[in-house]
Amino acid sequence: MSPSVLIGISGGIAAYKTPLLVRLLVQSGIQTHVVMTDAAMNFVTPLTLATLTGNPVCHDMWGERDRPSVEHISLADNADFAVIAPATANIIGKIACGIADDMLTTVFMALRCPVLVCPSMNVNMFRNPIVQENLKKLEGLGYHLMEPESGYLACGWNAEGRMPEPEKIAQKIHSLMGPKDLAGEHILVTAGPTEEPLDPVRFITNRSSGKMGVAISDRAIARGAKVTLVAGPIRVQPACGVRHISVRTALEMRDRVMDVFRDATVVIKAAAVSDFRPTVTETEKVKKEEMTPTIVLTKNPDILAELGRIKREDQIIVGFAAETQDVLQNGRTKLRKKNLDMLVLNDVSKPGAGFDCDTNIVRFLHRSGDEEQMEIMSKDKVADLILDRVRTMRTAAQYQRNTSA
Ligand code: PMT
Repeated sequence: MSPSVLIGISGGIAAYKTPLLVRLLVQSGIQTHVVMTDAAMNFVTPLTLATLTGNPVCHDMWGERDRPSVEHISLADNADFAVIAPATANIIGKIACGIADDMLTTVFMALRCPVLVCPSMNVNMFRNPIVQENLKKLEGLGYHLMEPESGYLACGWNAEGRMPEPEKIAQKIHSLMGPKDLAGEHILVTAGPTEEPLDPVRFITNRSSGKMGVAISDRAIARGAKVTLVAGPIRVQPACGVRHISVRTALEMRDRVMDVFRDATVVIKAAAVSDFRPTVTETEKVKKEEMTPTIVLTKNPDILAELGRIKREDQIIVGFAAETQDVLQNGRTKLRKKNLDMLVLNDVSKPGAGFDCDTNIVRFLHRSGDEEQMEIMSKDKVADLILDRVRTMRTAAQYQRNTSA
């Protein structure tokens, strides 16, 4: 049976974004029910939400007087997860104080599932110590909170108080609902390109967008791992909860990776690290007339090879290889030379694979010699399959330790 999410909508202007959240959840196969306050109906209609969910919307405690009013109990009983988006100062205060005087607060009082609260209000209301205290109280009671974002507010202020975008809330819901099969792992992921400066305005780089590495870190956090992402200049935003360390050059990436490596249990290196850097970086912009047609390069350290040399028994290392010719042979050589547990090989000359697209076509090369060719699929799906293999390697290693002890 598909999971069921209950969405509570209270009366703030951000309610206009909630139908999009509903649609995203419905599209991902989640059964969705909505309960809303009278104030919320000033911003968005029950008809819109009923149409999107395919379920009646609850808002009136006393609507059908000929029917015993236990709707709130069955809604609460059947929810696997609940969210209030937007959550106004008023609704936060009521729930924190145990007040149940309308359909939404009554249903939420009867819930036994995890609840996510997405505060959205004017910045001064949000900073009000009473609201802050109520939020702390909810957090202490086990409610999940999503920080409001900064930006333009309907009241004219440009500050924090905006409800996060529906995509981010949906992502958070998925991550809070999903299985936590990677709990206990600390996964270090690298993503994106590096930039190797020639002078303050020019640099050498490549076409990596960071999508593959960020998909891995997002799926890993959703599956309960602690995640550190060391990334060059990327064009995608990692999910909440990912510790994101921004770097620019290969040398910076190496240093930050080494800082984290000792604590990591798994390393997945999806970054496209520049193999070379200009030997000299000018501090001033080089004038056209002073330029020579030759750039002298110095080799960058191979971070992955270094990790392969110093890795502990209990650490799992997964490398990537982006190839365009002798793909399989080069991949097998990299797996062996860099002492990897697994290599994700992508033939980046194929349409739909590799750099700056939402899909990838990969082949997994295992240390054991086994190989698995995958069809074209989304980078999220590739990320999940890589993490599945990490799980399998961990379980096998644990089994081996137990049987040899
Ligand atoms: O970011 P996207 O737009 O989503 O694109 C995804 C991707 C194509 C960048 C990704 O799928 C990928 O293939 N990443 C590895 C790209 C690469 O640099 O491949 P390589 O064959 O040159 O390097 C092999 C491995 O060594 C990689 O894990 C790389 O991170 C690592 N390496 C390479 C050079 C170096 N100096 N240090 C390294 O650690």
